[in-house]
Amino acid sequence: MEKNKIIEEAKEILIKNFQKEGFTIPCEGLYPFQWKWDSGFIALGYAYFDIPKAKKEIETLLDAQWNNGFIPHIVFHTDSDTYFPGPDFHQSELHPQSSKKWRSTGMTQPPITGFILEEIYRVVEDKADMLSFIKKCIDKVYRNHQYFYEQRDPKNEGLVYIYHNWESGTDNSPIWDDIWDTMNPPEYEFERRDTTHVDASQRPSKREYDHYLHIIEIAKSHNYDDKEIAEKSPFLIQDPLFNAMLIKSNESLINLYGLIGDRSKIAQLKKWQEKSIQRYNEKLFSEKLNAYVHYDLRNDKQIAYVSSSSFSPLFAGIPDKKRAEILVKTMQERFGGDDKYLCASFDPTNERFNPKKYWRGPVWINLNWMLYYGLKEYGYKELSEQVKNDSIELISKAGFYEYFDSRKEIYVDKNKGGYGGNNFSWSAALIIDLLHN
Ligand code: SER
Repeated sequence: MEKNKIIEEAKEILIKNFQKEGFTIPCEGLYPFQWKWDSGFIALGYAYFDIPKAKKEIETLLDAQWNNGFIPHIVFHTDSDTYFPGPDFHQSELHPQSSKKWRSTGMTQPPITGFILEEIYRVVEDKADMLSFIKKCIDKVYRNHQYFYEQRDPKNEGLVYIYHNWESGTDNSPIWDDIWDTMNPPEYEFERRDTTHVDASQRPSKREYDHYLHIIEIAKSHNYDDKEIAEKSPFLIQDPLFNAMLIKSNESLINLYGLIGDRSKIAQLKKWQEKSIQRYNEKLFSEKLNAYVHYDLRNDKQIAYVSSSSFSPLFAGIPDKKRAEILVKTMQERFGGDDKYLCASFDPTNERFNPKKYWRGPVWINLNWMLYYGLKEYGYKELSEQVKNDSIELISKAGFYEYFDSRKEIYVDKNKGGYGGNNFSWSAALIIDLLHN
């Protein structure tokens, strides 16, 4: 497909997924509400052609912020019966400081709103107008970071925890299999909705859903209290992607507060930032795998697998040049090759790799988008171009899917490598950005 045609189609998808309540669904049927990190990527796409919608997307998300600074992973602005688990399962009202205005989940997602604000500022022409919008909402984003550092870092390390795989964004990565092995949840009875929209072979299993629901039940039994969760949740992880997003967003908030002129916030952000980057490099790098990995706080050990999250620190400027070089070598050796598109979400050389199933192997456009900018920033021009061109090729061949098979052979006869939801908002939004670069 030709460049302008892709951009036009991408815009149409975003417009179609926009809801009159002022937010954009990730895709029809499968994801009928507003998701936290989706909304950020979506807002960046709008910044190229509909600035009021870009602002609205951010406003509707921030409107659901809790009194303690927490921002939920799904905001239920509307009713829908196409999704499970919905608001009645999550019961955000259990938390005393939850939003009285909007029901939501009691878990969060990677904190990308900070760097999205800076990206939008980069893209728009009318900088003064955007800066006045940023002035209005930046303190809410700051409060979200403050929440993370004050409530989600029990050892005061500068690294925040997630208590659910859905908080990671990389929902059913094989990395979580090690945690499921430590648990034995009940067999819940419930009606899945996702598998009525998408082929079950591309989605998590029933047993995986039992685990997902079980951790929520535990959190609910503690009224979503962060301290209790830190003590009791069987799933307690320092995730390299999540923490890289926080660090990247810290940097953006520092830059934006610089334009606004708020020295005390900058000073606090710099303190968090310095500690986070140092500890991230000490604790989340595996010398054995030559990559950043997840840390299991509950069982006090690294989880030794390489995934696309392992390379996300490039986007946040975390490794020094020497370590970046090691990381790139790992990416090329394990994820590269003429027969593969970059970048698989999980190590293709590992036996748990599955190129068709959700986060167990397929390529995701949002991770590729981060890797493109990260590699470019560190001077890996050719590799960054490859990540960008692979993303564009996958969408032109298969369509605007949620995720894509990383094996080139799949696309030879029929272009059947697009999986999960179709007309997927962030794939559309981020390809608009990549094509403008
Ligand atoms: N993406 C998840 C789902 O599959 C939730 O965030 O429903």
